[in-house]
Amino acid sequence: MSAATAPVSAFPAPSFREGASRAQTAADSGARRATESATVLSLEDLGAGYRRLRLGAPATAAAAAPGQFVHVRVPALDASAMRRPVSVCDADPAAGVLTLVFKIVGRGTAALATVREGDRVDLMGPLGNGFPLPPAGAEVLLVGGGYGVAPLYFLARKVLDGRDGQDGRDGLDGRDGQGGIHLFVGGRTKEDLLLLDDFRALGVDVHPATDDGSLGTKGLVTAPLDAWFAARGGVVHPATAAKPALFACGPAPMLRAIDERAQALGADAWLSLDRRMLCGVGACLGCTQVVRDGDATATVRVCADGPVFPRGRIVW
Ligand SMILES: Cc1cc2nc3c(=O)[nH]c(=O)nc-3n(C[C@H](O)[C@H](O)[C@H](O)COP(=O)(O)OP(=O)(O)OC[C@H]3O[C@@H](n4cnc5c(N)ncnc54)[C@H](O)[C@@H]3O)c2cc1C
Ligand code: FES
Repeated sequence: MSAATAPVSAFPAPSFREGASRAQTAADSGARRATESATVLSLEDLGAGYRRLRLGAPATAAAAAPGQFVHVRVPALDASAMRRPVSVCDADPAAGVLTLVFKIVGRGTAALATVREGDRVDLMGPLGNGFPLPPAGAEVLLVGGGYGVAPLYFLARKVLDGRDGQDGRDGLDGRDGQGGIHLFVGGRTKEDLLLLDDFRALGVDVHPATDDGSLGTKGLVTAPLDAWFAARGGVVHPATAAKPALFACGPAPMLRAIDERAQALGADAWLSLDRRMLCGVGACLGCTQVVRDGDATATVRVCADGPVFPRGRIVW
């Protein structure tokens, strides 16, 4: 992977200014604006308007990192139509396969759901800074809402790739030096909880919550998260005394709740913002967000300076 496309920074987190300038350099260099004509390998109906799209896209799959997105030109739309940003849900460089999971919410995603095997789909990317990878063995808490679990799946897989055959289960005795990976996943109903079997197959401990109580805890995704902290008696791991790292992707109210908890607990947290985007590469200023920058505030572009921001940076 070239320096221009490498989005993953190592913990401890860089300051926001460092992270933003690196992302901006990469985006503005043009290297991340690479496009690829991908081939549709399969389109799977996951129910309730969700689809899993597998694409033959060797260059994008080789460059993609967790938390990045691709800007998709939807084939059935007019060529002048804007691209749609979709997170990378998985990338297999060896097979040259990129996996996306999307929800049909409007014209673009409805048209994307009509592609057939063999169709060509133009991708720009991978774009955005992505999640930093936690240190080896860190305890990882993933918090996702709806299709927000898509980039978290890729992150979980990458974390486990670095664990040399370990799965995501936590012995809690800390003897193997590996913290567990827990997914706290929320949605309106059980149909909105995606990829649960895929996470479980990785050994990730899954804690569901639904608004209607159709699966898991009835209520918001923060309910099982708070219960999990309460059950183990606090933020530090009982054996290793380390604090977990949180990674969240979903609607803004959920991200804000995670941000506030992480600040209160003193735990690292990384939040991936979902924002309407136009150009996707930092040129149009259509996706700006006000952030804290020391004692002042600054305006950044979610597409090029994010979409991932550390805890305490977003001005909600
Ligand atoms: C970095 C990033 C990653 C994303 N990853 C995924 C993903 O993995 N899977 C997925 O299904 N979607 C993802 N999205 C959201 C996706 O881009 C939008 O749902 C899509 O562009 C909508 O296009 P449309 O033409 O179908 O809907 P439109 O007709 O454009 O809009 C339909 C409705 O959806 C709302 N909407 C549009 N875009 C967004 C948005 N970004 N956030 C919230 N509401 C929106 C509109 O306000 C409107 O109410 C991501 C967005 C971003 C910024
Ligand atoms: S979408 Fe154009 S600057 Fe972000």
